[in-house]
Amino acid sequence: MIGNSIQKAAEILRQDDLVSIPTETVYGLAGNALSEQAVVKIFQVKNRPTFDPLIVHVLQLEQLKQLVKVIPEKALLLAQHFSPGPITFLLPKKPLIPDLVTAGSPLVAVRIPQHPLSLSLLAKINFPLAAPSANPFGYISPTTAQHVEQQLGSKISYILDGGPCEVGLESTIIGFEKEKPKIYRKGGIAQEEIEAVVGPVESVHVSTSNPKTPGTLKRHYAPSIPLSVGNITTMLNDCDPTQVGILSFKDRYEKVPEANQVVLSPNDDLREAAQNLFAGMRYLDQLPIQQVLAEWLPEEGLGKAINDRLRRAAAK
Ligand code: TXA
Ligand code: MG
Repeated sequence: MIGNSIQKAAEILRQDDLVSIPTETVYGLAGNALSEQAVVKIFQVKNRPTFDPLIVHVLQLEQLKQLVKVIPEKALLLAQHFSPGPITFLLPKKPLIPDLVTAGSPLVAVRIPQHPLSLSLLAKINFPLAAPSANPFGYISPTTAQHVEQQLGSKISYILDGGPCEVGLESTIIGFEKEKPKIYRKGGIAQEEIEAVVGPVESVHVSTSNPKTPGTLKRHYAPSIPLSVGNITTMLNDCDPTQVGILSFKDRYEKVPEANQVVLSPNDDLREAAQNLFAGMRYLDQLPIQQVLAEWLPEEGLGKAINDRLRRAAAK
């Protein structure tokens, strides 16, 4: 059921059941992060392998401090700049966080989401919320309550509706090696914004072969209809234009039916493109077409995170 009662969501969570919550990035599938029973349900409902750890959501820095052993100075600085917001910190966990949450890792991923409903909910309960994106494992992340309803509606009792997500891409995940910050997943805060605060930051390329590392799997965010990324005009030469969908940054293509085209940002705005990305991928994925042709966005700002998602969606 979709609704907007924080009271009801809090009651369900107190009983170790799950609620889908809105965040500024994507919708989460939330349960009490300190309850093994609730966390097990998250893995079951998502059909997620237990080697893939969960992000823990807290109300504010004070609550975050209760969950981790230390916070490097640069993490604190970044939190002051960007939290609440789409940034997640990988930090050494205290024992009160179940190992199941971190898939056995000594590090926990924590963030403060920036959405009024979820912040009110966190203020009402006295425990942190473990919440992966509210989609079946490997599929496109949901950016509206309706997306969640379509795929997980029969498995969870409540979806807190906070409208469409403002950022539309998952949080940027930052870890620290000897105090040196590293980006493990590109996301809603661009590398350039992070570097403006803490100086040059390395972006770690994460491979498939080691699923324990963050940022994750080669094939992810994956639609059912095959998606290829490249030069759309060139790719159109090799196929029947009436049988394809288009996922473009700014341009429309005359030969392709209008209804089969998603233009991410006619205004040339990477933020707008990020907001529209997952909903656009979902829309195309339910059309009667054979394949989707997408193009790379400029490799700057949020364009880097968008290209990362396109790469994973296209991976075989
Ligand atoms: O924006 C977001 O981060 C959204 C919203 C709901 O907050 N959440 C999200 O969660 O994207 P999820 O589970 O779909 O992705 C979490 C990623 C996974 O790729 C996981 O591998 C990584 O974070 N991760 C979580 N905990 C980790 C840990 N302890 N060590 C390494 N990687 C971790
Ligand atoms: Mg996810």
